[in-house]
Amino acid sequence: MGDTQTATWAVPGRLEGYVHRLASMPARARLASKMHYLDFLGDVHRRLDPGTYLEIGVRNGKSLALASCPSIGIDPAYNITVDLDPAAVLERTTSDDYFARPDACASVGGQIDLAFIDGMHLFEFALRDFVNVEKHCSWSSIIVFDDVFPSRADIAARDRHTWEWTGDVFRIVEVLRAYRPDLTLILADTKPSGLLMVTGLDPQSTVLEATYDEIVGRHVRPDPQPVPPSIRRRAGAVDPSAFLASGVLEMLRVGRDTGSRSATLAEVAATVGALGR
Ligand SMILES: C[S@@+](CC[C@H](N)C(=O)[O-])C[C@H]1O[C@@H](n2cnc3c(N)ncnc32)[C@H](O)[C@@H]1O
Repeated sequence: MGDTQTATWAVPGRLEGYVHRLASMPARARLASKMHYLDFLGDVHRRLDPGTYLEIGVRNGKSLALASCPSIGIDPAYNITVDLDPAAVLERTTSDDYFARPDACASVGGQIDLAFIDGMHLFEFALRDFVNVEKHCSWSSIIVFDDVFPSRADIAARDRHTWEWTGDVFRIVEVLRAYRPDLTLILADTKPSGLLMVTGLDPQSTVLEATYDEIVGRHVRPDPQPVPPSIRRRAGAVDPSAFLASGVLEMLRVGRDTGSRSATLAEVAATVGALGR
């Protein structure tokens, strides 16, 4: 009976439906219900309804196929095995070479509403990808990183020697927290290796570029890559279903259209804070 009892504590209105559904699930189902990152990203697309999408690291096209808007997929070695939206443009090149072009992102009008960074799984590559993508974002855009929660040092190694491989991308979390406190960071407890969503972006910011060498000097370390306990236990990550039901993506979608930056980001922060565990 304890497993299926309905929750009776007070929760914010928009979370009520989710909490009741969760509370009525048997405990075992709840534990087994961690969401796959592709299911999560599919719902992000539906709720945010981005006008444009950019992806770094396409491989077979499974995450790019979630986009139903004008999009750009960048990967030097893609091999598409799924149907893509006809408005998808594929670029067979590295992300660094793509962003060195003067007309980067011109095929979608220069502005990116949603981006997924899932290319080379080394910290400094992910950092450069963020710097380059942010220049094409507005404050309400979202940049998502894959692979921020490696479970062990083996898969976090810079020199890949396992099938499952996150590399040391997880270091992006501490670096953005330290160097860009102006950003809103949201960690999601998706399987297999977690996601980081970043919003409240500033395309004019030069902080990361100006301190790039210092950051890389401090944060890139030779293998092995011991995974900090906070990363192993996914500290601060939101439950994916609760996040999707929270209304944050709809707030950013409305914010994108009406432009109320500070009010929207304050509401996003309060809502995400209420999801904390
Ligand atoms: C993990 S896969 C991407 C998976 C895809 N995002 C998905 O979820 O279905 C990583 C991809 O990044 C690509 N890649 C590696 N280095 C890259 C770089 N410097 N720039 C862009 N893509 C890169 C690889 O070719 C590989 O296809």
